[in-house]
Amino acid sequence: MSNTANVVVGNKKTDLPVLSGTAGPQVVDIRKLYNDTGYFTFDPGFIATASCESKITYIDGDEGVLLYRGYPIEQLAEHSDFTEVQYLLLHGELPTAKQKQEFERTITLHTMVHDQLTRFFNGFRRDAHPMGVMVGTVGALSAFYHDSLDINDPQHRLISSHRLIAKIPTIAAMAYKYSVGQPFVYPKNNLKYAENFLNMMFSVPCEEYKISPTLAKAMDLIFILHADHEQNASTSTVRLAGSSGANPFACIAAGIACLWGPSHGGANEAVLKMLHEIGSADKVKDFLGKVKDKGDNTKLMGFGHRVYKNFDPRATVMRETCHKVLAELGVKNDPLLKLAMELEKIALEDKYFVDRKLYPNVDFYSGIILRAMGFPTAMFTVLFAVARTTGWIAQWNEMIEDPAQKIGRPRQLYTGAAQRDYVPIAKRG
Ligand code: SDX
Repeated sequence: MSNTANVVVGNKKTDLPVLSGTAGPQVVDIRKLYNDTGYFTFDPGFIATASCESKITYIDGDEGVLLYRGYPIEQLAEHSDFTEVQYLLLHGELPTAKQKQEFERTITLHTMVHDQLTRFFNGFRRDAHPMGVMVGTVGALSAFYHDSLDINDPQHRLISSHRLIAKIPTIAAMAYKYSVGQPFVYPKNNLKYAENFLNMMFSVPCEEYKISPTLAKAMDLIFILHADHEQNASTSTVRLAGSSGANPFACIAAGIACLWGPSHGGANEAVLKMLHEIGSADKVKDFLGKVKDKGDNTKLMGFGHRVYKNFDPRATVMRETCHKVLAELGVKNDPLLKLAMELEKIALEDKYFVDRKLYPNVDFYSGIILRAMGFPTAMFTVLFAVARTTGWIAQWNEMIEDPAQKIGRPRQLYTGAAQRDYVPIAKRG
C-alpha cells in the first residue's frame, strides 16, 4: 500500500506522506500542502480531519468499538473501577495493586478545596445552572495554585492533574448543595471516589447518610463510561486552549463550557426534557414525524453520533445498567424508561434513522438512571464533566508532551468583501 498521496492541484503537485496507526484509518499528512501548492484543505466540523496523534482512546464507529488504552469499554465496565480507569487513562497501563493504592491515596488527599473557594458560590443566584457554576469555579482554581502552573514542569502537570481529578467532584457537589440551599459537605478520606461524591451530594448534617452499594457501583460505572472519548468537541477545546500554554484549570473550564452544549454533553439533560415533552408512547410517532420534518429543527436527542454509525457501546452498557439500577431501587415500570424503550424501538425500525445510521448514544439512557438515583436534570451534564475531567487531563498531558505540538491555529476560506476604501459617514447612502 502506497505511503504517499500524490496531489495535483491547479498547476502544482506534491507527494504527501501517508501515516499509519495501530488501528483505524491511515492519515494523509498535509503539513506541507500549503507551502508546496498554496492551497488549504477545507473541513468545517473536522469530519475527515485528524487533529493530533494519540495513544489514549480508540473508537471504531462502524463496529461500535471503544478502547481505553487498548482495553474494551465493556471489559472495563465489568471488571474495573473508576480509580483504575483514571490511572489507566493518565499513565497508559492498568495499575499494580500498590500503584492503585498510592494513586487512590494521592487523589483522596486532594479532594478538599481551598475554603475561600466556598465564597465564589455566594456570587451566583441559587437557581444558576450548575454548569455555569462549574465553568466559573473550575476556572478560578488557577487563582489558587500558583505553585503548579508551569506546564513545562512534569511535576507541576502531575499535581495539577491530581488536584483537578480530586476536586471536580467536590466542586460539583458544592454546586448542587448551593442550588438547594443545603450546607456544603466535606469529602471523607475513608470513602471511595464515587461513594465520596454521593455522600457530598446527598448527605445532610442532621442524619447518617447510608451509601447504597448499588448507587455507588452505578455511579462508578457511569464515570467509567464517560471518562474519555477520543477527540470529541470538548476534548478538542481543552487541547486547543492548552496549545496556547494556558494553565490546566483554565483549559478544563473551557472543556466544561463546550461540553454544556445540547449537541454534546448537554444531550443527557435534553433527552429527559424530550421524554417529558413526548409524554406517552402513543405520541412517539407524531414526535418522530417532527424530527423527520426538515423544516422543523427537532432532533431525537440521545440519538446519532459523529463517529458511531452503529450502537454506541456505552449506550448498550448504560441500558443494561438502567434496568438493573431501577430494579434494585424498586422502581417498577418507570414510565420514562418504558417510553425511552418504545422510542428506541420505533426509531431503530424507521427508515429515516436506519438510512442515516442513527443509533442511541451514551446520553440516551444515562438521564433515566441519574434521575432514578436522585440527581436533578440540571446536574446530568455536571456528572458528565466530573467523569470527563480525567480524559481531558490525560489528553491535555499528552498534548503538552507531544514534541510535534504547536499552538492550534486553523486557517479559513475567506468569502467576505474584497479590499475597499473607507467611506466617510457623510457620503454613505
Ligand atoms: C456526545 O463526539 C463525541 O465523542 C461526543 C460524545 C463524547 O463522549 O464526548 O460521544 C458525547 O456528545 C454524544 C452525542 C450527544 N448529542 C445528542 O444526542 C444530540 C442529538 N444528536 C445530533 O445532534 C447529532 O447526531 C450529533 C451532533 C451527535 C452528530 O452530528 P453530526 O455528526 O454532525 O451528524 P449529521 O448532522 O452529519 O447527521 C447526519 C444526518 C443529518 O440529516 P441529513 O442532513 O443527512 O438529512 O442525520 C441527521 C442530520 O440532520 N441527524 C439527526 C440526528 N442526528 C443526526 N436527525 C434527527 N435526530 C438526531 N439526533
